[in-house]
Amino acid sequence: MATWKSSLLQDSASPLMEQLTFFHNHTLLILLMITVLVGYLMSTLFFNTYNYRFLLEGQTIEIIWTILPAITLVFIALPSLRLLYLLDEVNNPLVSVKTIGHQWYWSYEYSDFMSFEFDSYMIPTNEMNLNGFRLLDVDNRTILPYNSQIRMMVTAADVIHSWTIPSLSVKIDATPGRLNQISFLINRAGLFFGQCSEICGANHSFMPITVESISPAYFIKWITKMATL
Ligand code: CUA
Repeated sequence: MATWKSSLLQDSASPLMEQLTFFHNHTLLILLMITVLVGYLMSTLFFNTYNYRFLLEGQTIEIIWTILPAITLVFIALPSLRLLYLLDEVNNPLVSVKTIGHQWYWSYEYSDFMSFEFDSYMIPTNEMNLNGFRLLDVDNRTILPYNSQIRMMVTAADVIHSWTIPSLSVKIDATPGRLNQISFLINRAGLFFGQCSEICGANHSFMPITVESISPAYFIKWITKMATL
């Protein structure tokens, strides 16, 4: 069910998503200040009858209202660029996972250890448990350890898809013939949902991603079990 909280950003589960949330709030505050100022200025124009026939130019005020917005933009551009480059950084990944977008499901390859792979399909509504997450949960979840740097390698088999998980600040295109890379760190346990975000065909809405974040110790257990199956 949609609640008021659904209209905000999701709770972050990674340090970079936390920084992105701060940046979003920072930019919204600047936006609010501009809206209030311009709104006030415009509304005052309706409520007075000032006339001055000889007003033709105003060099000083024009310099001021050109420079001030330029300075304001710098305060948005610099933190934005800082985050942009921080998001691209790959810091000694402990785990590398490859994901391949298909019409219409994701498949995963874990090849750091003894290699294994599996497909991940959405659970249809009629096969769902009572406590299930409709249109978001999958039959085989992407298991990842928390407090560990993860590297995802992303590609596609047919058309363009996009591996997107908002709470982990991950959004990367899966392009046929190209291997894209993204790096992230999950800082708590939990289920983190995402959806494909490139329009990839009829069932675009029905190829969700479910990341299950577990402790590194349990991750080792899981991966050993999977590799020996
Ligand atoms: Cu795959 Cu949209």
